[in-house]
Amino acid sequence: MFARLVAIMTAAKSSRPLNSQMTARYNCRVAGTGSYLPERELTNFDLEKMVETSDQWITERTGIRSRRVAADNQVTTDLALNAAKNALEMAQMTARDLDAIIFATVSPDQLMPNSACVLQKKLGARDIMSLDISAACSGFIYGLSIANDMIAAGSYKNVLVIGAEILTRYMNYKDRDTCILFGDAGGAVVATRADDGESSRIYSHHLHADGTISDLFVFKMGGSAYPFSHENLDKGYHYMNMKGREIFKHAIRTMSQSCAEALEHNKMSGADVDWIIPHQANIRIIDGVAKHFGIPTSKVIIEIERMGNTSAATIPVSLDRAVRDGRIHRGQNILLTAFGAGITSGSLLMRF
Ligand code: UT7
Repeated sequence: MFARLVAIMTAAKSSRPLNSQMTARYNCRVAGTGSYLPERELTNFDLEKMVETSDQWITERTGIRSRRVAADNQVTTDLALNAAKNALEMAQMTARDLDAIIFATVSPDQLMPNSACVLQKKLGARDIMSLDISAACSGFIYGLSIANDMIAAGSYKNVLVIGAEILTRYMNYKDRDTCILFGDAGGAVVATRADDGESSRIYSHHLHADGTISDLFVFKMGGSAYPFSHENLDKGYHYMNMKGREIFKHAIRTMSQSCAEALEHNKMSGADVDWIIPHQANIRIIDGVAKHFGIPTSKVIIEIERMGNTSAATIPVSLDRAVRDGRIHRGQNILLTAFGAGITSGSLLMRF
């Protein structure tokens, strides 16, 4: 207890993030991954017919050629359910084995009940802690970090972590700055307690937030500040609104910083990392982060071309696709990094 207090005070003093490894009783590893993309594709050529843009501009400026759109009868927990089933299968577990569900999303089925509880029911999981977290595009890394610490402390053994979004329902398809970027997807991992001697484990996580620039990316409608009203509807507060160019600058800076922290903390260099999985927001941002570390593009998982930006889902979906097609395999060091509305950011380094 005293050691914990000292650790907290030291971390607060140095304003460095408190790292779970300080008090870990157990290691946490990723036992299974899963993902799901809705079938319907919205291509750049489709967007050309909806808003003043071009396939050439979108491809060159973002690296995106198409994104997926959920069917009208699908909700966010449906995407998560498919991803979760795949992750549980890979982990050789059933939903009854889960001890907690953490659901990262900014596009939940509804404000209440939370999406984790809806998913708990759809999965047929036991009476377990089920909570949503809202950290936008960093949500999955935040969620997996929380799961790691719960498992490391010994209170939980198997935690399902979801990153799932249906962002297309909040897009203004007249706003070309934003609507060309986002898509829908669900990703999942099962985090579990590592057995003694197992090399697969999460090494560290470093999470950040800078609320002083939170106005760069907002979705106002439905909260207590901007309740549902005709007036707020007329102002377009039911759409996501983003200052893209400003965010771009912070994206490369924050992701590079948190990756540097991860490497420094673990006394590693870019050469020790087998794969980096950055949040898939824009190919130029991804390239910028890789360049910062001198990491060749061949070591970067890039899935943005046919998926677009799916916020909390981009990292678990990219991870799962790379695991299933054989790019990523057990024993490799994987560095995850993200930034998003808030402005939140972070990194997580693990041996898969
Ligand atoms: O997950 C986190 C959330 N957000 C992000 O990651 C977004 C980060 N930002 C970005 O990815 C980029 O800033 C954007 C893709 C949003 C925009 O690209 P950009 O290279 O920063 O473009 P810009 O905003 O500087 O605009 C350059 C030009 C402007 O025209 P003028 O003023 O130079 O004549 C824009 O009006 O491009 C124009 N433009 C477009 N043209 C065709 C902006 N959007 C479009 C478009 N199609 N969709």
